Amino acid sequence: METNEKIESYIAAHSDDEPDYLKHVRRQAHLSLLNPRMISGHVQGRMLKMFARMICPQRVLEIGTYTGYSVLCIAEGLPQDAHIDTIEINDELESKIRSTFENSAFSQKITLHIGDALSIIPTFPYDFDIIFIDANKRNYIEYYEQALKKVKPKGFIFADNTLWNGHVIEDNIDKNDLQTKGIMDFNTFVKHDTRVEKVMIPIRDGITIIQKV
Ligand SMILES: C[S@@+](CC[C@H](N)C(=O)[O-])C[C@H]1O[C@@H](n2cnc3c(N)ncnc32)[C@H](O)[C@@H]1O
Repeated sequence: METNEKIESYIAAHSDDEPDYLKHVRRQAHLSLLNPRMISGHVQGRMLKMFARMICPQRVLEIGTYTGYSVLCIAEGLPQDAHIDTIEINDELESKIRSTFENSAFSQKITLHIGDALSIIPTFPYDFDIIFIDANKRNYIEYYEQALKKVKPKGFIFADNTLWNGHVIEDNIDKNDLQTKGIMDFNTFVKHDTRVEKVMIPIRDGITIIQKV
């Protein structure tokens, strides 16, 4: 086992265990979906829950539901009367996501929207305390601009995969790799954006925590 893997195992072993119902969601994804690695996973999931505990949000928005794993982790950390909206563009995932939510303790707290986040975000009649961006890497700046309009002052945007498997520091980037380009452009854009404060955390695939000033 390489040093990074050993450290990751050590971190997982010394954090709260992954709840059984989420292990089941992850196992099911490995059995039936093409890209199960897209799931936030054990340690990042515990971190999202802890962030929700710390921030005590009333309203949360997630962009990119996939299996529902990360939205359930956030739901675990929410105050009693709080609510999460989550948006997924792939309607083939809808019935699986809905049954995952119904089989969890959090179905009352979560509303699933099927469609393109870029069309749906402007339609919300309320603003959010936390917006978690975890969808198409090519569009991160567009999601971000919309999120910034919909996040409350002092509210937070979390952007996932901002290290993009290390591709962001490679010397020779393939010009046709639009996902790496999307993430690199986003990272540079946020770094210079004076409307926000930001810090990149090297957990899993990198997550940038952004606060609207
Ligand atoms: C990385 S996965 C989300 C993983 C999930 N948040 C988690 O951590 O368990 C990204 C998801 O975003 C969805 N997606 C991509 N573009 C989207 C868009 N424009 N609007 C909504 N969802 C989108 C994809 O279909 C995919 O299911």
